Amino acid sequence: MQGNSRVPSSAQSDVHEHLATVVARHASAPFRKPYADYNRAAFATSFARYQRLAPGAPLILDAGCGVGESSVALATAYPTHYVIGVDQSAARLQRGQRGEHRRGESHESHDGQHAGPANVDLVRADLVDYWRLLLDAGVRLDRHYLLYPNPWPKIGHLRRRWHGHPVFPALLALGGVLECRSNWPIYIAEHCLAVQQLTGRAAVLEPFVPAQPMTPFERKYLDSGHQLFRTVTDLT
Ligand SMILES: C[S@@+](CC[C@H](N)C(=O)[O-])C[C@H]1O[C@@H](n2cnc3c(N)ncnc32)[C@H](O)[C@@H]1O
Repeated sequence: MQGNSRVPSSAQSDVHEHLATVVARHASAPFRKPYADYNRAAFATSFARYQRLAPGAPLILDAGCGVGESSVALATAYPTHYVIGVDQSAARLQRGQRGEHRRGESHESHDGQHAGPANVDLVRADLVDYWRLLLDAGVRLDRHYLLYPNPWPKIGHLRRRWHGHPVFPALLALGGVLECRSNWPIYIAEHCLAVQQLTGRAAVLEPFVPAQPMTPFERKYLDSGHQLFRTVTDLT
C-alpha cells in the first residue's frame, strides 16, 4: 500500500539555534506547574493497578502511545515486565481498546476470548504531569519509549518538542533505556544533544528500518516511503 504522509516540512534546516540555552534553562529551574486533578487520579489508579497486578515487575512506559498498539507489542515482547501506555487522547485510546487489546484487569474479555496480554494498561493522562508523578512516587523505569512524538516543526515551537519542554529533565530522571523514534531527523538530533547536555551520556542518531511496524504512525510513514530515525540511550 502506498501512503501519502509527508515528512515534516520546516524552515528549520538544522538543530535549533536556541536548543542548548533552552535546555540549560529548564535544567536550572524546577518546573512547578501544578498537577491537574484528572492526572493525579489517573496516576493513582494506574499506579495502584501496577502494584496490585505486578508488584516489583520492571516497568516500561510507552509515552504518547496513541491507540496502544506499541504498548501491546511491548507487553508481548517483555512478558515479565509491566507496560503502561499513556496518551492524552481518549479517542485514540478508545479506538485501541475496541481493537485487539483492552484496559486492565483480567486476561479474558467478557465473552471469554483471549483479549491481549495481562501486563499492559492504557491510561488517559497528560504526560507533562504523569512523568512528574511517576518521579515523585520514586519510580524508575526499565524501558521508556517516545515513538513518533508530535514533531512541532515550526521554528517557534521548540518548547513544544519534548526535549525543549520544561518537563524534559524529569523525563530523563526516570532513567531506563530511552528510545525515541521520528521521521524528522532534526527532532532526533535535537533529542540526542539535549540528552547529552543533561546526562553526559552519548546519544547517537541512527537511521533504521523496523522488521515490522510497531505503531500506526510507523506503518503510515513506511507506507509513504519515509526514512525513519531513532536513538536509544541507556540512562540506568
Ligand atoms: C504522532 S502521535 C504518535 C502515536 C503513537 N506513538 C504512534 O506512533 O502511532 C503522538 C501522540 O502523542 C500524544 N500526545 C501528545 N502530547 C501529549 C501529552 N502531553 N500527553 C499525553 N499524550 C500526548 C498524542 O495524543 C498522540 O497520540
